Amino acid sequence: MVKVFVNGFGTIGRRVAYAVANDKEFEFIGIAKYTPDDRLKEAYEQGYDVYIPEESIDRFREKGYGFVGTVKEAIEKADIIIDASSDGKGYENKIKYYLPLSKKAIFQGGEDRYGEKSVASIIHNSRVNYDKAITHDYVMQGSCNVTGLGRIMQPLIENYDDITRFDSIIIRRAADLEDPKEVKDTIELTREPHHQDDVRDFIKEPPLYVDAYKVPSRMMHMHQLNIRFKKKAPNKDEVIEIYKKEFGVAILNSAKGTADIRKKALEKRYPFGDTCMVHIHADVIRVQDDTLKIAYSDDQTGIVIPENHILLQGMVFKRSRDDAIRRTDILFGLNDRKRQLIEEYK
Ligand SMILES: NC(=O)c1ccc[n+]([C@@H]2O[C@H](COP(=O)([O-])OP(=O)(O)OC[C@H]3O[C@@H](n4cnc5c(N)ncnc54)[C@H](OP(=O)(O)O)[C@@H]3O)[C@@H](O)[C@H]2O)c1
Repeated sequence: MVKVFVNGFGTIGRRVAYAVANDKEFEFIGIAKYTPDDRLKEAYEQGYDVYIPEESIDRFREKGYGFVGTVKEAIEKADIIIDASSDGKGYENKIKYYLPLSKKAIFQGGEDRYGEKSVASIIHNSRVNYDKAITHDYVMQGSCNVTGLGRIMQPLIENYDDITRFDSIIIRRAADLEDPKEVKDTIELTREPHHQDDVRDFIKEPPLYVDAYKVPSRMMHMHQLNIRFKKKAPNKDEVIEIYKKEFGVAILNSAKGTADIRKKALEKRYPFGDTCMVHIHADVIRVQDDTLKIAYSDDQTGIVIPENHILLQGMVFKRSRDDAIRRTDILFGLNDRKRQLIEEYK
């Protein structure tokens, strides 16, 4: 059985660990924890084996937190690592462990794709470049916004050959729900949004231009994507029809905003309160001459988890994309969640 280790147990790591641990196809080695704190209780309750850095053994013992081995030992046992570390640490892990031990790895969207600390030569987006990504041993999974952009842009590109440009304004949440950090009352400017270059890694044309602002919210991201056509933009009903069959895209008509959807996901007890998808707010789609304007919200914490699972299957089993998505849907019940959300916000 293929052995998977999850390196990092924060917002993303705990979700990825839960998915892998519940997938009988994989042998789940366990998780890495770097700080001896109460987040470990969740790992123990779930029955995960905990691995820690060798240099932290005394600190964990002093605080009375149990572990079964070191991070290096876990990586030696694993066939593939899903790295869910804080931004930039994935690169250090690649140099320290994955390359010397010849282990495949998936990195998250906060790592660098370009420059001297680049973790991989490709960014995966399951809607765009799955077949190519799975041929690599080191792959970066696009961040939440980058994943959502691929999911919304690609169906339009496949249906229309007269798009001249995409302009995206991303209104980003300042922190995740479970993040203890303070959310400041400000609208913060993002000087060089990484999303533009990241998306260009898998969609070169038509060009995408991104502007991003961080707002004092913990409830998802909102995207305003404006799509310019050579002449007249297509009509709204035609566009909605295109998205209806897209995996991980729900078309909603009456959600007031992001908190509505997040609270609904919590109320419905979806694991971690995630919808794991993007939600097109169809009631505010606008067609104005040559421009189509789509607003959609993006479940920042959830959307990348099925993506990691799809990519994992591809990298280890070389499965077709359809097959990988089918199995991911069985594990996450995404089509069910989508149906429920559409019904709630029809
Ligand atoms: N949060 C989101 O909504 C979101 C969405 C998409 C993508 N991402 C990306 O996913 C990655 C993880 O983000 P996150 O939000 O999960 O961050 P996070 O909540 O801050 O968690 C990061 C985790 O990394 C662990 N860590 C520290 N040093 C490490 C090392 N050397 N190797 C491995 N792990 C280490 C930390 O462990 P300790 O707690 O034990 O110190 C912490 O649990 C980032 O690249 C981020 O950009 C995040």
